Amino acid sequence: MSKHEYIAVSERDGLGFIELNRPKVLNAINRPMVSEIVEAFEEFDRNDNVKVIILSGKGRAFAAGADIDEMSEDGAIDLELLNQFTEWDRLAWIKKPVIGAVQGFALGGGFELALCCDMLFAAEDASFGFPEVNLGVMPGAGGTQRLTKLIGKSRAMEWLLSGDRFTALQALEWGVINRAIAPELLMEETEKFAKKLASKPPLSIRLIKESVHKAVDYSLYEGMQYERKNFYLLFASEDQKEGMKAFVEKRKPHFKGK
Ligand code: CAA
Repeated sequence: MSKHEYIAVSERDGLGFIELNRPKVLNAINRPMVSEIVEAFEEFDRNDNVKVIILSGKGRAFAAGADIDEMSEDGAIDLELLNQFTEWDRLAWIKKPVIGAVQGFALGGGFELALCCDMLFAAEDASFGFPEVNLGVMPGAGGTQRLTKLIGKSRAMEWLLSGDRFTALQALEWGVINRAIAPELLMEETEKFAKKLASKPPLSIRLIKESVHKAVDYSLYEGMQYERKNFYLLFASEDQKEGMKAFVEKRKPHFKGK
């Protein structure tokens, strides 16, 4: 029996799949679901067979937000003591690439979860938004921060203050998602791209991801220093020797992730 109640987890061809699995409530994210998601990510991060992680939702939504029923009666001090968002913070420490495959609604906490992914592929009919303002609250799991860093102040303001839902096309135009794909091809196209990443030397992928994330927070100078150290570090890997030797010998490299 699966140890998960709110998600479905599987593994195939070097890819780890995490599917949000509360389709009846549009994958509304409750607290035990967050624990399951974070633990599943961390398990895949430790699993040598998994090179890339794909996050998606079952049914007609990626996720329609945090579970409103669960939090509607909470008080401020309850939330402070619960300190639930530190659990979400652990998603930022996942070392392997994470691709979100978004269909249907990605709203509120669901959009915030999507923004934790390294790349987003979305169905053309997906919609994104931060409706928290309509509930008398605001995003609490990184929405105001991650979206603003991603698309800039003016656009983030429009999105966050209006609470409006935006189409995948708009999200594409604003650089929130990487691809807008016909809904029936979403998983196929996402997997195809993930498999391409899975065939690359894992240590390069790992340190590139880490360096790109640093670019968001560091000054250019600090970021350049960080990048340089990671570049040097890769010269300690067997894959660097193999990759460059294979190039010189005009053959395909065989990477081991070491
Ligand atoms: N929490 C709890 N239940 C939810 C939910 C949520 N965020 N979103 C949808 N559901 C439930 C509905 O209550 C409904 O349940 P019942 O069948 O038992 O009534 C079921 O999912 C299907 O939803 P609808 O009937 O509403 O479906 P629809 O197609 O008519 O509307 C929708 C879809 C526009 C997404 C609508 O469900 C909606 O507005 N959902 C809430 C979106 C929202 O406000 N999200 C932000 C939450 S706050 C947050 O996320 C805070 C944070 O930053 C951490």
